[in-house]
Amino acid sequence: MRIPLSRPLVTPKMINAAVKVLKSGLYIKGPIVKKFEEEFSNYCGTKFGTATCNGTASIYIALRALGVGRGDEVVVPSHSFIASASPILMCGAKPVFVDVDETYTIDIKDLKSKLTTNTKAVIAVHLYGQMCEMDELLALKEKKGFYLVEDAAQAHGAKYHGKKAGSIGDIACFSFFPAKNMTVCGDGGMVITSDPELYKKTQTLRDHGRNYSKKEGKYISEVLTLNFRMNEIMAAIGIEQLKKLDDWNEKRIKIASSYDKYLTEKITKPTQRNNSKHVFHQYVIRVNERDKLREHLDKNDIQTGIHYPIPIHKQPIFSNFKCVLPNTEKFCRQILSLPNYPSMKIKDSKIVIDKINEFCLSNK
Ligand SMILES: Cc1ncc(COP(=O)(O)O)c(C=O)c1O
Repeated sequence: MRIPLSRPLVTPKMINAAVKVLKSGLYIKGPIVKKFEEEFSNYCGTKFGTATCNGTASIYIALRALGVGRGDEVVVPSHSFIASASPILMCGAKPVFVDVDETYTIDIKDLKSKLTTNTKAVIAVHLYGQMCEMDELLALKEKKGFYLVEDAAQAHGAKYHGKKAGSIGDIACFSFFPAKNMTVCGDGGMVITSDPELYKKTQTLRDHGRNYSKKEGKYISEVLTLNFRMNEIMAAIGIEQLKKLDDWNEKRIKIASSYDKYLTEKITKPTQRNNSKHVFHQYVIRVNERDKLREHLDKNDIQTGIHYPIPIHKQPIFSNFKCVLPNTEKFCRQILSLPNYPSMKIKDSKIVIDKINEFCLSNK
């Protein structure tokens, strides 16, 4: 049997929760989305949540809520999924790409050289399930006065010095896409914050610019935006998935420990930050013969992934923002994501390990 890269888990409770909503006849703007917003933001350690239709929309809404627009610069790592940066362009602002370090998160030294008086926000992408160096980012924020946005699309339940992903910046964004650490079984997202004013803006920006806290607010559009709402069925599934998140993260960590322990030293394994909890959305190794290794694993019925083969600053839509990012450009040729999902058996991780070690031995 083929070992997949990832596999979402759906329990009978999730199916029942979805069916219950289907039978209720209330699919949009009901109590379940509200409940999911409360429970998810509470889990992360923030006061408010605005559920959305996906993680990309969440980043767009977060930037708009912060007032990002023409003339502003937003710093973002190029080593990420395109959605970390495309909302910057959608807001009319200028993306400034920063390199990553060995942890695959923002290289603080490079960031320091890229901050200007026009820097309105920095997007801290907690890539692969590991949070950025938040103390350094907070110190810079204090000094320079930019907004700190957490892109936590890959880091549900991750921690930095005891604090959960999403609870440290001014505002944070999550994705509930099927491959993530928890899902709504489709596209979905959430923007969380503890700032009541930002929260109100996110609610308005999600829904045609309407402000429901005002009398007749339903009929008045105050800001230009689109419809980015989540539906009740997905929220019901999200509530059930959230209950499993901690347990599922532990299972991902267990598979990662098995890889850490038994994979040959000939490959580069993930670097974990001290005092932090990496939730291994992806377990990413680096190896020079990456494409050959990938082929070898594929032939042995092991699916792998490359997150991501083209750095964002090399994407056609960003051709006006040329820059050189040595680590990002090197890593994209070497990275390989190995199978890791909560229902994965340790014996399957051993198969993956054997096949990788076998390849490395024969390619000395
Ligand atoms: C780091 C990162 N940011 C943003 C997103 C966008 O989320 P979505 O696919 O739900 O729009 C993703 C999802 O793949 C992601 O991995």
